[in-house]
Amino acid sequence: MPTTKRRQLLANALCAAALSTTTISACSATPASDAIIEPVASIPALNARARRRGMFYGAAVNHEALIKDPATMARVDAECGMVVGEASFKWEAVHPAANRYDFSQSDALLAWATKHEIRTRGHALVWHEANPEWLTSTINSGNAEKLLTDHIKTVAGRYAKRLAHWDVVNEALDDVPGRQPLGLRDTIWLRALGPAYLDIAFHATAAADPQALRVLNDYGTDYTIPWQERKRAAMLELLSTLMHRGVPIQAVGLQAHLDAAEITLDQKVLSRFVADIASMGLKVIVTELDVRDDRLPADIPSRDIAVADHAKAWLDAVLPNPAVLGVLTWGLSDRHSWLNTKFPRPDGLRQRPLPLDEELNRKKLWSALAT
Ligand code: G3I
Repeated sequence: MPTTKRRQLLANALCAAALSTTTISACSATPASDAIIEPVASIPALNARARRRGMFYGAAVNHEALIKDPATMARVDAECGMVVGEASFKWEAVHPAANRYDFSQSDALLAWATKHEIRTRGHALVWHEANPEWLTSTINSGNAEKLLTDHIKTVAGRYAKRLAHWDVVNEALDDVPGRQPLGLRDTIWLRALGPAYLDIAFHATAAADPQALRVLNDYGTDYTIPWQERKRAAMLELLSTLMHRGVPIQAVGLQAHLDAAEITLDQKVLSRFVADIASMGLKVIVTELDVRDDRLPADIPSRDIAVADHAKAWLDAVLPNPAVLGVLTWGLSDRHSWLNTKFPRPDGLRQRPLPLDEELNRKKLWSALAT
């Protein structure tokens, strides 16, 4: 098929996706009589499109959706090549008591993903949140290394050879660098072990599951606002220091929790940041993309356009770098977004931060991801 024809078909398909209609006549440059009726279902899904660019697309899945929302899970199956548990692999889920592990949620997600031939990423072996009370109340400099290495050996060992990635350490950096060594966040792990907790965690993960890509995951590196400028610099310094110490980090996770009302997105700065990470021989994964709209007016069509345009500006700066392995959104449908809890809209309306709306229709953000 001549290139122009194929491009035109793809452009029409994209347009149809944006309109979430089953015909492409409304978008086609060719007269309706020549338009090929292409049902939305046959329009390649997000992961199929990502694979054509040598990447993957995936989404976070929360346990409630997995067990109670089959319609959403059907769309996850259709659109995604990777899933991540929104909370299912965290300490409070898998290690609820000092001498008890509970893999019911993590096993359930992995079983679903395996059945649907979708890869799974682990999130997260070390974080300052979602820790059970037994851990935060007992950890000290004398027991911390054993607590950490036993947890990683048990959890990463259980899923060895079955996970694509592990977010080994999540949100290690302080939002206000300079308060702790290496700009690190003041956490139970830093207090108990110092910066060496990162070395311990990454080496333990490499020993437990050599196959899973080992990721340092963080947020707040997206805009040219001063604290994020400092956080990008702190990230690069931390990566350089750790790699010089022989810490087996393989990739950086950019969470990309974006804000459609933020006007300080500088594509050159963002592209440079990704290139600096890649220059260290590290891969990059967009791990938690969503776009909060709580600071935008209520009108849904204009909100959807602003969210999509903002995400596309960010993605256009990041995705061209060959070090980028893929994109996950922090949920697939607006039905399940943490943002309605964390940043409720003042007008009480639900946020629209994800590729599918609450009725599971594809939105402008879907099209932004699809191009
Ligand atoms: O599973 C329990 C359930 O049994 C119980 O009935 C229910 C009510 O208490 O809580 C459920 O656990 C909740 C869990 O989400 C699963 O829904 C936790 O209370 C709740 O704190 C947890 O929130 C998650 C949060 O991380 C903390 O783990 C959010 O859904 C999740 O979106 C958020 O994700 C984080 C990433 O891990 C890191 N990056 C930022 C991102 C947003 O904060």
